[in-house]
Amino acid sequence: MLIAFKFVFFLICAASVMSLSESWLPPFPRAVFRAALVGVAVLVLFYTDIMAPIRRTAEWVKKIRLGETPENLPSKERRLLGPLVKEVSKMVRSLETARLAAEEEARLRQSKDSVWTPERLKEFVRTKLGGRPLFVVSNREPYMHVKKGRDIEWMVPPSGLVTAIEPILEACGGTWIAQGAGDADRETVDEKDRLRVPPEDPKYTLRRVWLTPEEEEGYYYGFSNEGIWPLCHIAHTRPVFREKNWTYYQSVNEKFAEVVLQEIDGMEDPCVLIQDYHFALLPRLVKARRPDARVAIFWHIPWPNPESFGICPWQKELLIGMLGADIIGFHTQYHCNNFMETVDRFLESRIDYEHFTVNREGQITSVKPFPISISFIGNESSSSAEKVTSSKEDLLKPYGLSAEWIGVGVDRLDYTKGILERFFAIERFLKKNPNYQGKFTFVELAAPSRSLIPQYRQFADQIDKEVERINSLFQTKNWKPILFLKKNHSHKDILPFYKHADVCLVTSLHDGMNLVAKEFVMARDDEKGVLILSQFTGASRELKDAIVVNPYDIGQTADAIREALEMPLEERAERMKRMRAVLRERNVYRWAADLMGELAQVRLSSAVVS
Ligand code: F6P
Repeated sequence: MLIAFKFVFFLICAASVMSLSESWLPPFPRAVFRAALVGVAVLVLFYTDIMAPIRRTAEWVKKIRLGETPENLPSKERRLLGPLVKEVSKMVRSLETARLAAEEEARLRQSKDSVWTPERLKEFVRTKLGGRPLFVVSNREPYMHVKKGRDIEWMVPPSGLVTAIEPILEACGGTWIAQGAGDADRETVDEKDRLRVPPEDPKYTLRRVWLTPEEEEGYYYGFSNEGIWPLCHIAHTRPVFREKNWTYYQSVNEKFAEVVLQEIDGMEDPCVLIQDYHFALLPRLVKARRPDARVAIFWHIPWPNPESFGICPWQKELLIGMLGADIIGFHTQYHCNNFMETVDRFLESRIDYEHFTVNREGQITSVKPFPISISFIGNESSSSAEKVTSSKEDLLKPYGLSAEWIGVGVDRLDYTKGILERFFAIERFLKKNPNYQGKFTFVELAAPSRSLIPQYRQFADQIDKEVERINSLFQTKNWKPILFLKKNHSHKDILPFYKHADVCLVTSLHDGMNLVAKEFVMARDDEKGVLILSQFTGASRELKDAIVVNPYDIGQTADAIREALEMPLEERAERMKRMRAVLRERNVYRWAADLMGELAQVRLSSAVVS
């Protein structure tokens, strides 16, 4: 536009000079003079408005190629080469990420460091699986599409499973098969119910499976979450087993099996990683039709002792279904032991305690601990180091509050998480230590969960009441002990709380692993926060520098809060440093490498699972 304007301006000037020249030049030289004038104008324009910006843009790209960080391009260049600049800018970002990753790789290789990175995992999986793609199955999907007015937005559901598995698929590619549960999920898939994700930078395929409301109620809410969930978590909530729910659980497992079989059709020796208690029957269903498939099931929740498990009316069916897998993984050795004893108690099989395998009708299953983790690699480009510009005051200001010390808790609103016990401990702490009244606020970021189940609704109501009661005991005009924020918080919302909290409380009554504890440690690159951690979490076996508590012991947790707030700075830093070192070494890439390395080594038994 500007060039056209300049060109017209030049023509007008030239025309005026030319009309002047008519009086003093004969016709032929006049024509030559006019042509020369237009030629000069075009050349000047071409040089200043086209060649010069292209040259400067080329310089800019060159700087990027040489690994420098050039200034933003001036607006003239951006106007002329807009779409090109946009694409190059995107490329710059990808190159920058790749460069940092490569540098980190090189650094780790040189220091003979054992850290697992996405690149190392990718290479490992490529070698081990011989280039075959990976298939992951879970109930919860990593990206959910939801309607917001007339728009469609995507969100990441609050789920430890998603936190752990997503980085692996991002690194290795493959297909993730999961229930499509968002109200705009159907509008965002192709005709084969697939889409590429992450939405902003696609790296793998999400295959959605559709369930009817009845199926979802019977299989997900009913059998999985009113039955198996309380059965496996010893949190004193009674499991409910209904015949109708069991029927749905079987038929939904069959439905998923059909989808898995479709997806792996035509692939030789495929690798299928099944996630969690929603799919106990799936390993056998897949193996019966594809004995060449390498199948693992990872159980993200605890496994109880045989007496507790024995109350499930379909105990045998669940065990037989799981034993279709080549590998069954739990977070801890203790859960593996419980599983082996349960099999021993209820099934006819040959158990080898030396190698931790079960041989049932010729199908050999290896039972092993694989403690899951997060994508922490410890370099500054990891998400833990995302810039947080807010301050402690900024976090509380929107709620009209201020406090000297902050505690944080991040949970799904679930009765296994010990949220009530945590609040009672805060009440006790403030009573025992009145000098902290008006100065310590605990922020609970709670995501509503499974609210169609009566126990969950009752639990949520009880929490609301207790928060109100405790706050009314102590609160002042601009301070209260508990700030209870009930909504689905994104990682970006949570991070500033992790970064500024003096103490993080994870007080689960029973938890397979608990990744909140690990996320808090990952966020504290300043080595300042203190973690209070329940002894009944898998994470407490690894994070020994947390203050470990029995969440049922309210007095002990109250004292732990005080100990955390008064811990000398050097001790905090020492503890945090050690926990970060543990996490860095045992990150989720290592988890995936261990599991997939094991799966790749499986000798497929000749037995045909019936
Ligand atoms: O902790 C067990 C678990 O299944 C996780 O694997 C998952 O992150 C969480 O529960 C979420 O549950 P839901 O998918 O029912 O919201």
